[in-house]
Amino acid sequence: MKKLIVANWKMNPATLAEAQGILESVDDFLSSQEARAEELSLVFCPPFVFTEEVAKILQSSHLAHRAQLGAQDIAMDDTGAMTGEVSGPMLTKLGVQYVIIGHSERRWKLGESDDVVNKKLKAALRNELIPIVCLGERTRNTGPPAGGWQDFLRQQTTATFAGLLADDVGRCLVAYEPVWAISTTPGARPDTPVSALQSVGIIRDRLATSYKLQATSFLYGGSITAVNVGAFLAVPEFSGVLVGGASVNKEEFVKILGIAVSVSS
Ligand code: PGA
Repeated sequence: MKKLIVANWKMNPATLAEAQGILESVDDFLSSQEARAEELSLVFCPPFVFTEEVAKILQSSHLAHRAQLGAQDIAMDDTGAMTGEVSGPMLTKLGVQYVIIGHSERRWKLGESDDVVNKKLKAALRNELIPIVCLGERTRNTGPPAGGWQDFLRQQTTATFAGLLADDVGRCLVAYEPVWAISTTPGARPDTPVSALQSVGIIRDRLATSYKLQATSFLYGGSITAVNVGAFLAVPEFSGVLVGGASVNKEEFVKILGIAVSVSS
């Protein structure tokens, strides 16, 4: 089954030359794999300043048809005075096809509320971008809310998808990313597939109850490396993984792709 590997470069790498280096390594890897690489789909979400250049590289070489372009964020409005923001129409003109919505760094470090996340999700859908909607609890401590982290996840799911039609929710990829498992969180440890599946079950049930949706596509994200990627990709419920820190380490990322190819084929 074809798996999706989403590279969230965050605010990295420092230079365009390094960004080109990562893509060259992936290109070399794909050319060495020939037909086996067909089992993989890749999405690169570079910092906005590299988007145009990454778009050009993705159209050439072995990356063409296997890799698509993503953005890390989107403005909630399509036009108007919004200092520092980049609109959906601007992204689509650059060839962007996916956009990360509600990443925990935006929610918790930059104060993005559920309401803002919801508006950005609607902006992505309005512009026919595929939203990669990030959901995840900050800790596994009990409460608040009263039902502990499980209720937190239910409430975050409801607030994030509020006011959408079932068809729109069905167009989203949902990335379960527990904040405590993201590599830059102090003391981070990766989740396990078994535990992540329980959380996915909570989100799935909430979406099924609210939207009668049975077939949501889920990704896992949080400290994915070459050591644990195989275990997550082997789980049929995960359509792929969202890779942060390891996606800007070209040696590690190519190892991740190698494992993904073996799991998928
Ligand atoms: P990480 O980041 O792989 O570095 O933990 C994942 C993410 O934040 O999307």
